Amino acid sequence: MSKTRKLPKAELHVHLEGTVSPALATKLAARNGMKLPDGIFKADGNYNWNNFPEFLKSYDTASSTIATAQDFSDVTYEYLASIAREGAIYAELTLGPDVVAMFGMGYREYLDAVTDGVDRARQEFGIEARFIICMIRHMGPEKALELMHTVDKFPHPLVVGVGLAGNEAMHHPKDFAPAFRIAHEKLNLGCTAHAGEVSGPQSVWDAINHLPVTRIGHGVRSIEDPELVKTLAERDITLEVCPGSNIALSVYPDFASHPLRKLYDAGVVGSINSDDPPFFWTDLAKEYDTAHEKFGFTESELVAVTRRAVETSFADAGLKADLQRKIDEAIAA
Ligand code: ADE
Ligand code: ZN
Repeated sequence: MSKTRKLPKAELHVHLEGTVSPALATKLAARNGMKLPDGIFKADGNYNWNNFPEFLKSYDTASSTIATAQDFSDVTYEYLASIAREGAIYAELTLGPDVVAMFGMGYREYLDAVTDGVDRARQEFGIEARFIICMIRHMGPEKALELMHTVDKFPHPLVVGVGLAGNEAMHHPKDFAPAFRIAHEKLNLGCTAHAGEVSGPQSVWDAINHLPVTRIGHGVRSIEDPELVKTLAERDITLEVCPGSNIALSVYPDFASHPLRKLYDAGVVGSINSDDPPFFWTDLAKEYDTAHEKFGFTESELVAVTRRAVETSFADAGLKADLQRKIDEAIAA
């Protein structure tokens, strides 16, 4: 059991399709009469990938097993139930409509199915969730723009933000500025983008100089440029840090080299997250445990991380106040 289990937690950076474990992917594939490609799993049963592009491919294959509305509802429910049992009170689920569309799922059906899973988890565990609609960098700016037009056309009460993920080496953030403009200026949605994960600090500069983001997914490589860390702090742009993911993807060789503590001390860590938990042999509670065990975060620092996550979340003011009250209650208990 997690040492930090009793602490309240919030997850701001998790890809819904990235929560599907090899066991669940196998079960869903069987349920949907689908044959998984050879070599998707290693002999030890884990997903088989060896570098970032291979990870992205393996992620798409796992996504392909989630086929029906029932599947999406179940994946969402299972994930939220699992983190609620470990103290989580809130999650922002990153949804990839353009990924699931490759396997036949339409935008509205997708959102309704995920909402069904959220409703079930809320009823049973009291956990709240909201959605971040994610553009995929390697699918290009046109696709991203098209997606933002869809978001505009079909408003949904749980959609609170938009994001940009995928292969950081492809395209420039400024190519996505028109898409982000719709989200930010027209739809008043929160904005975040993956940067400074696989690529260095310039990638973070490019994101914050060209996109209306208040958060950066990962952004850990900002540490290589003190001026950038200072700018992030001044502009109150916070990082969604996912230490386990960074180690799994070899952004850093080990936790001793990871900048979580330095970034926290510089005031730029907004949340500690799991990213794609079964791909990286992690989960939210493990990430909190890691912060405690490998980076010396005290219990009160971890509670402060959760409070900051709520503050920097894209939830509305009423929900943020409710969540802070829940944190108070969890601590009092
Ligand atoms: N999509 C899912 N996980 C991702 C990650 N860690 N980086 C970029 N794109 C992703
Ligand atoms: Zn991510």
